[in-house]
Amino acid sequence: MNWRIKPLDDILANAERRSLKRSLGAFQLTMMGVGAVIGTGIFVLTAEAAQKAGPGMVLSFAISGFVCAVAALCYAELAAMVPVSGSAYTYSYAVLGEVIAWIVGWALILEYAVAASAVSVGWSKYFVGLMDRSLGIHVPEQFSRGFMEGGIVNLPAAVIALLVTALLLVGTRESARVNAFLVAIKIAALTIFVALSLPVLNGQNFEPFAPNGFWDGTGLGIAGAAASIFFAYTGFDAVSTAAEETENPQRNIPIGLIGSLAFCTVFYLLVASGVIGSVGAQPIRDAAGQMLSPGSPEFAAACALPQNVQALACSGEPLAHALDLLGWDKVSQLIGLAAFLALPSVILMMLYGQTRIFFVMARDGLLPFHDKLSTVHPKYHTPHILTMITGVAVTIFAAFFPVGVLADITNSGTLFAFLTVSVGVLVLRVREPNRPRPFVTPAVWLVGPVSIVGCGFLFFSLPPATQRTFLIWTIAGLVIYLLYGYRKSPLAKRG
Ligand code: ALA
Repeated sequence: MNWRIKPLDDILANAERRSLKRSLGAFQLTMMGVGAVIGTGIFVLTAEAAQKAGPGMVLSFAISGFVCAVAALCYAELAAMVPVSGSAYTYSYAVLGEVIAWIVGWALILEYAVAASAVSVGWSKYFVGLMDRSLGIHVPEQFSRGFMEGGIVNLPAAVIALLVTALLLVGTRESARVNAFLVAIKIAALTIFVALSLPVLNGQNFEPFAPNGFWDGTGLGIAGAAASIFFAYTGFDAVSTAAEETENPQRNIPIGLIGSLAFCTVFYLLVASGVIGSVGAQPIRDAAGQMLSPGSPEFAAACALPQNVQALACSGEPLAHALDLLGWDKVSQLIGLAAFLALPSVILMMLYGQTRIFFVMARDGLLPFHDKLSTVHPKYHTPHILTMITGVAVTIFAAFFPVGVLADITNSGTLFAFLTVSVGVLVLRVREPNRPRPFVTPAVWLVGPVSIVGCGFLFFSLPPATQRTFLIWTIAGLVIYLLYGYRKSPLAKRG
């Protein structure tokens, strides 16, 4: 096996060292994090969490928020030390060697590209709801759901994925002002939701608290929901990648990371409590009383039964649906509108991240046809070939798969990448203790291992089918590496 390591100094020297202006402060960083984090997770997957854990999902939100926070602290140390594109892929190349870097880069495809598909599908749910409620236009299920959910193709999800790809091709980068506006919309929507749902909280809706227990090995229960809802917290890496543009990163990066995560965690806990307390969040079962996994054809069939159509767990737009049930139908339209407007920016961020990671991997010579792939468009200065390939793949997944399945697959890749980064931080502390660290993870010998165990725990709480998909994906990646990257990488030529 090959443990070629790309020296850190090489990485720093090779990267274009445009010195960026250090203009971002703690507040802007926190806003950036919140903008990247709040999306399909809270707006859509709350329903999946209800099906998996029942009211216990409030604990699931707390567990995954905690794991994300400790992983974020590890992430920040490497991000600040290696402030170049490529995220966890680049850090691993420097610390753990080429083969691990390849596996991480390969896993990051799940984190970014599949996440973009998941958010597109989440957006489509709100689009369909908005059309229905506001304009009375009913989009037929055959064309608004993938085949696993009883439809044929999810056209709205495919269209939004293509539109965002087109924006990226011409080089649109969201400006800080647009981001601030969308963050304000999202926060306003969640605040309104909390303000309307918490006052009508009924303690009885929390009983039974954990109908599926804590951990059942099939992806249900509080741990299973935590593993799924982890999706709601991802995206904060946006903060750590801005290390080079941050004033006083040692102080501001951790404030931005922990600040945005803490902010989202508090909001998520309030929203989850509001949902559960106001309209209830009990899972639905089949005729024999068996629990059903969300995203399965059996679940879709059970949701079509008259006794379940109103169940929160069956809703594609649970926050708007809960307000409908509470009689706030006009406000629910506004919540729908907020999701409709704000979710595409999360898709944009995920797609952008993916194309840049591919770009770095191609530049490192690890991808077949890397010369072609890393060409930059003469007019728009974007990696257009990579963007088109990525966009088409994201569109295909968005068109055919359910949001929960895509989110779980995303989480498997993200958890693996976070786990590797947490190991990497510890390895580098031992190997290069004196290298300057713009940000030092506090209590790293506690935080690092807790992050490793937390990520591992959530990974193994994912549905077994997701774990298998991840394994097959990783093996396929290794085969490609052995057949191609192993021989072709510039480090191989160097000997
Ligand atoms: N955390 C982001 C979302 O929930 C990816 O949409």
